[in-house]
Amino acid sequence: SDSDTKEMTSDVPSFKDWATAEITTVQGLEPTPNITVADIPESVLKSFKPTYHPEDFDAPGEDLLQDADLADSRPKYRLIERPDEIQEQRVALPIHAEEHRIMEAVLHHSVVIICGDTGSGKTTQVPQFLVEYGFSDHDGPCPGMIGVTQPRRVAAVSMAARVKKELGLSDKLVGYQIRFDSELDSNTAVKFMTDGVLLREMAKDLTLSKYSVIVIDEAHERNVNTDILIGMLSRVLKLRNAPESKHKLRLIIMSATLRVQDFAENKRLFIKAPPVIKVDGRQFPVSVHFNKRTPGDYIEEAYSKVCKIHKRLPPGGILVFLTGQQEINQVVRRLRATFKSPKTATEANIAPVSVSAKDTDMEIDDIDLGGSYNSDALADADDNDRDDYESDDEGFEETLPETNEAPLHVLPLYSLLPTSEQMRIFAEPPEGSRLCIVATNVAETSLTIPGIRYVVDAGRVKEVCYDKETRVQSYRINWISKASADQRAGRAGRVGPGHCYRLYSSAVYENYFDKFAEPEILRLPIEGVVLQMKSMNIDQVVNFPFPTPPDHESIKHAEKTLSYLSALDKKGSLTEIGRVMSLFPLSPRFSRMITVGNQHDCLPYVIALVAAFSVGEIFLSEQESGADLAQIEAKKALLSSYNKSRSAFAALDPKCDALMTLSAVCAYDYETSKEEFCKARFLRAREMKEIESLRSQIARIINVNSGGRYTIADTAKLPPPSAVQLRALKQIITIGFIDQIAARSDLVLDVPEEFAYKAKTLRSQPYVTLLPTKSLAYEVDGVSVQDQVVFVHPEAILAFQSSIPEFICYRLVKKSAGSGKLRIVPMTVPSGTQLAHLSKNTGLVTYSRPLTRPHPP
Ligand code: CDP
Ligand code: MG
Repeated sequence: SDSDTKEMTSDVPSFKDWATAEITTVQGLEPTPNITVADIPESVLKSFKPTYHPEDFDAPGEDLLQDADLADSRPKYRLIERPDEIQEQRVALPIHAEEHRIMEAVLHHSVVIICGDTGSGKTTQVPQFLVEYGFSDHDGPCPGMIGVTQPRRVAAVSMAARVKKELGLSDKLVGYQIRFDSELDSNTAVKFMTDGVLLREMAKDLTLSKYSVIVIDEAHERNVNTDILIGMLSRVLKLRNAPESKHKLRLIIMSATLRVQDFAENKRLFIKAPPVIKVDGRQFPVSVHFNKRTPGDYIEEAYSKVCKIHKRLPPGGILVFLTGQQEINQVVRRLRATFKSPKTATEANIAPVSVSAKDTDMEIDDIDLGGSYNSDALADADDNDRDDYESDDEGFEETLPETNEAPLHVLPLYSLLPTSEQMRIFAEPPEGSRLCIVATNVAETSLTIPGIRYVVDAGRVKEVCYDKETRVQSYRINWISKASADQRAGRAGRVGPGHCYRLYSSAVYENYFDKFAEPEILRLPIEGVVLQMKSMNIDQVVNFPFPTPPDHESIKHAEKTLSYLSALDKKGSLTEIGRVMSLFPLSPRFSRMITVGNQHDCLPYVIALVAAFSVGEIFLSEQESGADLAQIEAKKALLSSYNKSRSAFAALDPKCDALMTLSAVCAYDYETSKEEFCKARFLRAREMKEIESLRSQIARIINVNSGGRYTIADTAKLPPPSAVQLRALKQIITIGFIDQIAARSDLVLDVPEEFAYKAKTLRSQPYVTLLPTKSLAYEVDGVSVQDQVVFVHPEAILAFQSSIPEFICYRLVKKSAGSGKLRIVPMTVPSGTQLAHLSKNTGLVTYSRPLTRPHPP
């Protein structure tokens, strides 16, 4: 289009031009038109008016406990006849003893909290109690469905099937809904769903008029969706349980741990603490065995531990905890190749799990990361351990006489596994065989697998993480918490005394494991959470009753960032662009880049960039490589050799590290000996591998979440970008980092002499950021000062240029151990229109703020 061409050709203006520029186009490229929200009809979104008022959130939680209406006019109780076998199993569950207490509490109180060990019967039994007590009746004082939320799809689907079976009803009385898949009909009484599904329902029907009870399960996991749901529900309950309301709503919060004070003793949520009902667990003792050394390759270690257990220890199921699909399939394949499979189980190989749009509501478990732990660091950690009591063979004293010939029935368990495969874990293993389940975190508290006596715990979990310094979100494999480790161990004690083999030393457990996992909301970049809430029409995020509130300052800052990204308008409401961005479970910066990335067929390059930004540094530092200047030369050689040999990535801007990164990522695809390539170019091999797999993950996320708008077939082996594409890419990067633009310091400051001198000698050019950067705040005598002077990283390519651009779009680099100072890497040079747009929207026309204090580079 016209404006595109204009945008492309405009040069970077001088500082004066920029300050007075006329605005001719909207920010950067136009957003891609015609993207619709996948599962919310336009008309519904348009007509939706938030029923919340700011004061709803400002006030402390309502006193919800006075509500005895339901108890006075109780729904009709009706006992359901079940087969004896099922009834016997039910009665044996610890929760059965609490049925009366739970139901009386629910009748008398709007909110009830139930704590009980995994396997005590919460998920399967509580919905059945509710059915029998008339909560699914469509007439009476509390008409509607019983809604049960789960953090994971696997649990939603398999728990629905189990409850359906126990109720012994053949119609669709019990159904489920996960994103892109559901089994429901008009007389569904109990509906299992993921918490994301319920959140989306609330965006359409805030008061949840179809439901009589909402059960929030696995609340101890404290994921963001659960926290937001509980906050929202605390206000919906107020509407639904008002004295004049004919349509009451109850909330049951269920947790596998006793740590519920954030819900129970939180006056912003509920003024009077809701009743907490504790269900006693029935748990046999579990002996815990630590590894003496913590192996870096925990996948190998898990495999050999299972071999040992199967060959030498008495009968009993084995449950292995790993972090994701790829690892699990790898171990399952090896175990199946090593041991005889039972005759009745015909599966020789696991068919590769194909990803269809149907089951691709990505969960973290499904995202594969290469890489494992740095074994040197682990060895150091183990050395802190002075106790020598651990032996890798502990627990093996009751060995079987000869090598065990029994078949091993090996099954994988993770989110993307087809439902029929998932259900097999609950079936009796074939006669004479030993069951071995290799699972993600889903087996920790969500699903109780029968017959487990041995647990093998790798001690890791995959999590979304957020780097507080560089403000980049990524997926990482982290240590679990002590609470999680204990939950995992507990899985071995359901049927009798058991053993838990931890593939890490007690020193690692003591020194590296947190006591409890932090609520997810504190681990995520708040921008994404705010965007998600805005997309649910919650405009007053600051006032929202979070169980654990993020601090006001960061919410305010997030709103600002989102408005720079054009996701919010001046009033703080979601824009069309913001709505599209909220579809992608990615950091908003990256979603923003994707919303414009489709132009000029740039999307595969944008994906490569987003993947690279997510993993952090891809080049070894001077220190790590021991290469000094040669390293920088190698970086340059990388560029020019690609220019020559493949005429690829020509015209890359030598001032721009982002395009150099792109060049490295794309060149990597063409290499056959990737390790050598990395070595020669001083690239980090592990990170490069991770980028490769992240790229296909991100492409998948985009394909699925754009509702068919984009189809990115294969991201490997990209052709060199055209000149137009390169210019577009530079603009796209700037759009994603529009709030991170800096002006050369001489344009805005009288540069103190010492700066100029240092800049020459340290190759460390000072720039001034146009917006205050939160990561640069520091304290002087207890007063927070926003520093806006930043220094170009000495290893950025720009540090070697003789002409330094007036404006740069930068990213922050992690503090290095030595300098303790945040550095920036210039990514690209913003276009004139982009700068003009920024100046118009921020009022930052000139930078006149005096330097707060002399600031050595
Ligand atoms: O939710 P909670 O962890 O308290 O327990 P649950 O999931 O309701 O499980 C109660 C019992 O039902 C456990 O002993 C499970 O092993 C069993 N169960 C089963 O046999 N088959 C299923 N599909 C689900 C649960
Ligand atoms: Mg449960």
